[in-house]
Amino acid sequence: MARLILALETSCDETSAAILQDGTEILSNIISSQIDVHKKFGGVVPEVASRKHLELINGVIKEALEQAGTDFSRLSAVAVTYGPGLVGALLVGVAAAKAIAYAKDIPLLGVNHLEGHLYANFLVEPGLEFPLLCLVVSGGHTDLVVMSGHGSYQVVGRTRDDAAGEAFDKVARTLELGYPGGPLIDRLATQGDEDAVVLPRAYLEKGSLDFSFSGLKSAVINYRHRSLQRGEEIDRADLAASFQRAVVDVLVDKTLEAAVRFDVQTVLLAGGVAANRRLRDALALGCSNRGLRLVIPPPVLCTDNAAMIACASYYKFLRGDFAPLTLNAVPGLKLGEEKY
Ligand code: KG4
Ligand code: ZN
Repeated sequence: MARLILALETSCDETSAAILQDGTEILSNIISSQIDVHKKFGGVVPEVASRKHLELINGVIKEALEQAGTDFSRLSAVAVTYGPGLVGALLVGVAAAKAIAYAKDIPLLGVNHLEGHLYANFLVEPGLEFPLLCLVVSGGHTDLVVMSGHGSYQVVGRTRDDAAGEAFDKVARTLELGYPGGPLIDRLATQGDEDAVVLPRAYLEKGSLDFSFSGLKSAVINYRHRSLQRGEEIDRADLAASFQRAVVDVLVDKTLEAAVRFDVQTVLLAGGVAANRRLRDALALGCSNRGLRLVIPPPVLCTDNAAMIACASYYKFLRGDFAPLTLNAVPGLKLGEEKY
């Protein structure tokens, strides 16, 4: 009989529910974005996010079941993101999943949000062979992760300050583009010259696989302020393109260096910033020049969604790694850590 997993994702500003069959086939992946609500505040307001999740969660679950042509009685398990993320937002998904697990007497699976991002790649290619190197770039994280098996992670590089997505969002705010900044910079940059503005790239000490984007972000903000003070008009497309290029250069260089150092032949890209076209193209070129295989999920599976959570949970299900009904939200959960 087919194994159906219902997964819920409510860690930030998307309320999402998905049904996955046998770990590979997405029967539904409903994503209700709250972007329009948070846009007026220029960023995610945690209290508003939790309230919105509460309003949306039951309808999103219902739609996921309907679109998959199934109902609660046919589920093999229910999975949920329990961290990292906004505590009030996470709690909505965790409470809903626990209620379903209890009422239907099915196993509960607790998934790390970052693990979900990594596993979006297994939706694209279920047969990926280890070891794998994954660049996880989201609004809250920029990590280089070596995966030596299912559920086995070694973080070999991380950001020391801002995450890549955070830098995109802050620069977009400076350029008065709106929220969320990543997709807007991605679009505007196509009209700009990426060599127009000279910006710093932080490679840190020799051999380091860590990242730092706060210097670059400040350089863009200062450039903008200086031009405003002088009353000069800046070309926002040029500045967006130059900023994006500086981020992409460092991300790609360090990823390729890590692949060599850890002797990994297959590279994965994950997280919201993985939707960035410039990054996708540059990493594809770098990997092909070095004979490395690259897997990148389609953009809809890069940004927050429950299908990726379902996929990560499927391998936990196979291992019998079930969470107790006392599962709680863990806002600061680290990759590879299990807190239940
Ligand atoms: O993974 P995600 O959806 O949520 C978190 O777990 O944080 O990532 C959201 C981040 C935001 O900072 C957003 O601006 C960025 O991903 N993002 C992009 C693009 N699409 C989303 N950044 C650059 N280019 C994009 N096309
Ligand atoms: Zn995410």
